[in-house]
Amino acid sequence: MSPGFFAFIVGAFSLLCFYLYLKYNYWKRNGIPTVRGCVPVLGHMLPMITKRMNFSEFIRLAYEEHKDHSMVGMYKGTRPVLIVRDPNLVKTVLQSNFSKFYKNGREVVSEVDPLLSKHPLFSYGDTWSIVVSGVCEKFEHFLNRRLKTSNKYEVDMKTLFSRFTCEVVANTLGIEGFCFEDDAEAKSLHELAGNTFAESLGTIIAFHYPGINRLLKLSFLPKSMDGFFRKVVRENLKIRRNDSSPRNDFLQWMIDLENTGNVIDEENVTVHAASLYLDGTETASITLNFIGHDLAANPEIQEKLRKEVKSTIEEHGGLTFEALKDMTYMNQVINESQRLHAAVGSLQKMCTEEFELQGSDGLTYRIKPGIEVDISIIGLHTDPMYWVNPNVFDPERFNDERKQTIEKMTFLPFSEGPRICVGMRMTMLQVKACLATLLSNYKLELSPSTQVPLKISSHYFLSEPIGGNWVYISEL
Ligand code: HEM
Repeated sequence: MSPGFFAFIVGAFSLLCFYLYLKYNYWKRNGIPTVRGCVPVLGHMLPMITKRMNFSEFIRLAYEEHKDHSMVGMYKGTRPVLIVRDPNLVKTVLQSNFSKFYKNGREVVSEVDPLLSKHPLFSYGDTWSIVVSGVCEKFEHFLNRRLKTSNKYEVDMKTLFSRFTCEVVANTLGIEGFCFEDDAEAKSLHELAGNTFAESLGTIIAFHYPGINRLLKLSFLPKSMDGFFRKVVRENLKIRRNDSSPRNDFLQWMIDLENTGNVIDEENVTVHAASLYLDGTETASITLNFIGHDLAANPEIQEKLRKEVKSTIEEHGGLTFEALKDMTYMNQVINESQRLHAAVGSLQKMCTEEFELQGSDGLTYRIKPGIEVDISIIGLHTDPMYWVNPNVFDPERFNDERKQTIEKMTFLPFSEGPRICVGMRMTMLQVKACLATLLSNYKLELSPSTQVPLKISSHYFLSEPIGGNWVYISEL
């Protein structure tokens, strides 16, 4: 090797080291403590890349390890990211200074994920209630068929509830989902997104490194799924344009618009369909999955809820919208289960305007546009500072009296502020209808196939128990 080339290599290496030193001292220079385990180039992302934990679990650990600090810094690659722990700072980001953090941290590159990059506004209220009651009937028929041959049906709740939530979304759009057909396989986003190392690395890059992804162009939504949504919408619109019996669903509204002289954009219709599926089915089936587990593991709470369900249905003469609204103990059970096992474990927001963050411990940091701020929903939900015996399932925390004492911004299953989940009310309705159908006719018992206590899979960005959540369902 010539001396000149050797000097070039040494010089380039020294420059790289200096560059990394400057990058990884960002938080120190700003007086903010840093999460342990930073490695050159990858920053703190190694556990996610090697699939040792999912990102929300990482943020939760960082939250727990920094009990004495209001904020803590980490690096996604070389990019600094701030984790805020203090409920007051959470309020600043999500609510009081929302205008400076309105952008979501998980940036979707629009040329790569055209179906995800546009945000829909949903107005499906009435259709949703009609659809949900139809799906409840199909759900009941499905369980009865399963219980014809044996008096106990052993099932992984996630698979069972995915059938329910997928059928709701398909029917809302005006498509028959056939999710309760015996041979139907309700594929979760997780399965569709693929499981190989390369596929999950692609998802991590698409999610956490938007800068790199502008070059690599890896899509978060797999091409097969993108194509699937486009095909379903195209084919169904074609069928429905020739259908003489109008219905009350999303596709019908689009066709009605077309019939009054408007041009409907198939891409936009597909965006709504894909968003409804992605935002609505997985989160709701995960939520139902954990509630099902908590009810099977706590038979006395299951019985108390069953009594409320039966008496309210009797009072209202059926499972009506009003009956669901009156099931207040059910709200407590759902809230408590969401506290213990939030489907969305962390939030990512992006600062868009310079601003001074002041923690209750005296830490201050002048945040600049482009810095990501993360919030650990699971950390806040299980912090003993805000919850007595945080790991105990106790729906009484959410009774009328005690819920007044819950510290603001420590319970965020649907986030908070102007970008709170737009599907919150609709999803509560479907979750309650599904549980009411189940509890009024059937009993849930834990199966020994479930690993208790539940451990969360590191292979998925949402919360999913390792090995599934198996229960026995039997008729009352
Ligand atoms: C139990 C079920 C659900 C849970 C736990 C849930 C949770 C959440 C959370 C935590 C966010 C905030 C995400 C963030 O800021 O990064 C969110 C946003 C959102 N959710 Fe849900 N969600 C559920 C069901 C639904 C349903 C059924 C729909 C559709 C009808 C939906 C549509 C949306 C949309 C469109 C947003 C983005 C709102 C925005 O950014 O302005 N969600 N959801």
